Amino acid sequence: MKRLTPNTFATRRFWALAGLCALQAMATQSAHAADTSPAQQLTHWTAQAGAPAKADRGQALFNQRQGGEWSCASCHGTPPTAQGKHASTGKAIAPLAPAFNAKAFTDTAKVDKWFKRNCKDVFSRECSAQEKADVLAYLIQLKP
Ligand code: HEC
Repeated sequence: MKRLTPNTFATRRFWALAGLCALQAMATQSAHAADTSPAQQLTHWTAQAGAPAKADRGQALFNQRQGGEWSCASCHGTPPTAQGKHASTGKAIAPLAPAFNAKAFTDTAKVDKWFKRNCKDVFSRECSAQEKADVLAYLIQLKP
């Protein structure tokens, strides 16, 4: 059997480690792309709106119906600090308030996708940057 020189050994160990890192990166990415935070999201939408966010306005928007049969609260509950339930499919929805769900508002693509879809479902239009900032300000101040 061929003896491993220290050098080959180090090389093998390097590749084994590199492989592990790549696998781990892939796993993290597919499970959850944590690329933002609730605070960063609030800063982002407040900057877009060009005016400070108001939590009480966000709360009103959250509970409000506009012509349609749903409000945000219909699926997320009110206050949205516990597991919600989809108003039509009955599927469980993780709490929306970040203090009750570590994953909420940590994935930009997910936040954008659901804001768009849910605002259309509830208000038949997209929410404005101001409305998103207000809702976030409301959600962030909900504490256990
Ligand atoms: C018909 C049901 C329904 C309604 C009504 C609804 N949502 Fe949602 N919402 C969902 C579901 C389902 C998800 C995805 C949950 C998951 O995958 O964890 C979601 C996710 C979200 C997310 C992403 C949260 C995250 O994990 O980062 C935001 C933001 C959101 N909703 C905001 C709103 C707002 C604001 C309204 C009201 C304008 C609203 N939703 C109304 C069903 C609904």
